[in-house]
Amino acid sequence: MKLSIPELQQAAKPIVMVTAYDYPGGKHAQAAGVDMILVGDSLGNVVLGYDSTAPVTLSDMIHHGRAVRRGAPDTFLVVDMPFGTYHTGTTDAMRNAVKIIQETGADAVKMEGATTEILQVVDNLSRNGIPVVGHVGLMPQTATAQGGLKAQGKDDESAKLTLDGAVALEQAGAFAVVLEAIPARLAALITEKLSVPTIGIGAGVNCDGQVLVTHDLLGIYEGEQKKIAKRYAELGKLSREAIEQYAAEVRSRQFPTRENSFVMKDDVLDKLY
Ligand code: KIV
Ligand code: NA
Repeated sequence: MKLSIPELQQAAKPIVMVTAYDYPGGKHAQAAGVDMILVGDSLGNVVLGYDSTAPVTLSDMIHHGRAVRRGAPDTFLVVDMPFGTYHTGTTDAMRNAVKIIQETGADAVKMEGATTEILQVVDNLSRNGIPVVGHVGLMPQTATAQGGLKAQGKDDESAKLTLDGAVALEQAGAFAVVLEAIPARLAALITEKLSVPTIGIGAGVNCDGQVLVTHDLLGIYEGEQKKIAKRYAELGKLSREAIEQYAAEVRSRQFPTRENSFVMKDDVLDKLY
């Protein structure tokens, strides 16, 4: 059963959110009973093989968002607005957000930042019926300007910027705010100050919810270890080993077996000679 925004906001237990990028990803997340699915623009890194989220396009997000929705028709779905699709004015942002909602069936969009311009976009979208999730702290789309992919909010200036940004996003109408890679105590303070839920990633245990990149929690990439993620499985290793076993069995003619093969009557075969 899909939760409504008020239900998400009043949940007694922490909100569980994971990313998904395709039909099986959506299916697994929904079957596991998560509260919200995010089609993150981390798509660029974990699925498309880019080294940042900047190259991800609106049509990439729509293509993958539609597939996720087909796998998870009954789960609250948020789709990230990719870099450049909400930075050229409120009219463009509205047009692109409407396209995402109409073409993917998403329930909400998410965007990074809390500049004056982005707050205007959040205000405009949320007043016109498009629920928005905000995102402060580490913002991968503009990480170069933030000094690289590293934790934010550690010094006076950055902590204040992050807190003020989250407060301003709530005031602008965001119904939830993602806090990425900030000190746990700062995230706890922001969570206390906001009345809308905070959803943390690398932001400690005191947020109103948690989000993880599915590929990180499934251990899709062997040998990788990110501080902010926990590997709940080693699917990368399992996948490689399965393919290695298949390759060995093909080479030794152990696969396919009789069970994998079709049979025909002898007389049909006889007539071919
Ligand atoms: O793109 C993404 O996966 C995200 C989450 C890490 C919050 O924005
Ligand atoms: Na993102």
